[in-house]
Amino acid sequence: MANFHWKNLVIILLVLVCPNEITATWWFISQLPLHAVGTQMICDNVPGLVGRQKRLCRAHLDVMVSLADGAKVGVNECQFQFKAQRWNCSTIDRDASVFGKVMLKVGSREAAFVYSISSAGVVHAITRACSKGDLQNCACDPTKTGQSKDRKGEFKWGGCSDNVRYGADFSRMFVDAREKRIRDARALMNLHNNRAGRRAVKKFMKLECKCHGVSGSCTIRTCWLAMQTFRKVGDYLKVKYNGATQVGINQDGNGLIVANRNHKKPTRSDLVYFEQSPDYCVEDPDTGSLGTAGRECNRTSMGTDGCDIMCCGRGYDTTTVKKVRKCECKFHWCCYVKCKECIEMMDVHTCKGPNPTAPPKIKRLRRKPVYKLDSKL
Ligand SMILES: *[C@@H]1O[C@H](CO)[C@@H](O)[C@H](O)[C@H]1NC(C)=O
Ligand SMILES: *[C@@H]1O[C@H](CO)[C@@H](O)[C@H](O)[C@H]1NC(C)=O
Repeated sequence: MANFHWKNLVIILLVLVCPNEITATWWFISQLPLHAVGTQMICDNVPGLVGRQKRLCRAHLDVMVSLADGAKVGVNECQFQFKAQRWNCSTIDRDASVFGKVMLKVGSREAAFVYSISSAGVVHAITRACSKGDLQNCACDPTKTGQSKDRKGEFKWGGCSDNVRYGADFSRMFVDAREKRIRDARALMNLHNNRAGRRAVKKFMKLECKCHGVSGSCTIRTCWLAMQTFRKVGDYLKVKYNGATQVGINQDGNGLIVANRNHKKPTRSDLVYFEQSPDYCVEDPDTGSLGTAGRECNRTSMGTDGCDIMCCGRGYDTTTVKKVRKCECKFHWCCYVKCKECIEMMDVHTCKGPNPTAPPKIKRLRRKPVYKLDSKL
């Protein structure tokens, strides 16, 4: 069975190797089966890895498994956060660009989110693996020993504090490797957003404590720093996505500047982007946009999942589907719950596709963003 997997994988990898323009990134690791990741063969054959990433991969096979896991967590969180929007963060099967070439070519808000959430996912997963004792070169944070204090007074470090520094350092070395080599405008944008992702994980570290002392009187506390669930990081980065700042590149080409001088400068925790997003309304193989034809929408919602917005004004079809759900549940002593099955008819609305007789939409020319000189970030 395992052999079968392997052959498949080799074929997929070979088909994907593409020598010219950047059409692949390390994100592709998120699409591989985890059991295949911690092997030397992967390091040399995953398309899109640059030299430094290959070397890190070969030297730290154990970390790579967590890195792949983190990349998957990032993709899942992205799909959760965007499930009600036209662009829904779907991945393209067997495509080494993972989210479509548009993510690599257009410096959009969505690209900013994808870079930050995948960088954050990697920090989170590696840090967690350190605490679990799964990795050779890291463990719980060794600096959290002895006494310390917080608002409630003195406490003793105990238990296992998550070693987020190791996770963030490895993530930076690996995830930033390509951009460190090229250092063009887009690389600066990616580096900024990767860092914002790492900072988001650090932001949600929380001190957790246990009380000791006579009958739980809490005269003695032992505490440790723990990461919060990745959902918190996802929610936070989604807010940062909504408030992302448009930037340009300065005249020397080595720094980012705010595109509109009336907007405030982004901090290191904010997301930045260069270009307006496509509207993601219709399928476009050029950009990798899937379009919204066939997407489910909510007839009464005024939000992005509402049929007007989701379907881009094309209208929607309504079908009635039978849904079975558990109902009239009763608790029986002791201890089980018995439910009946109720059948409900529900209307499901799905977006119509583009009208085939309408004249084709004139394709939006991709303009280079206008860079206005402003204070350096
Ligand atoms: C995203 O939308 C496309 C249709 O536009 C659909 O095929 C796909 O399953 C959706 N992906 C996710 C992750 O919801
Ligand atoms: C549709 O949107 C309304 C208003 O936002 C909400 O109350 C309702 O639960 C949504 N329905 C579904 C099926 O999501």
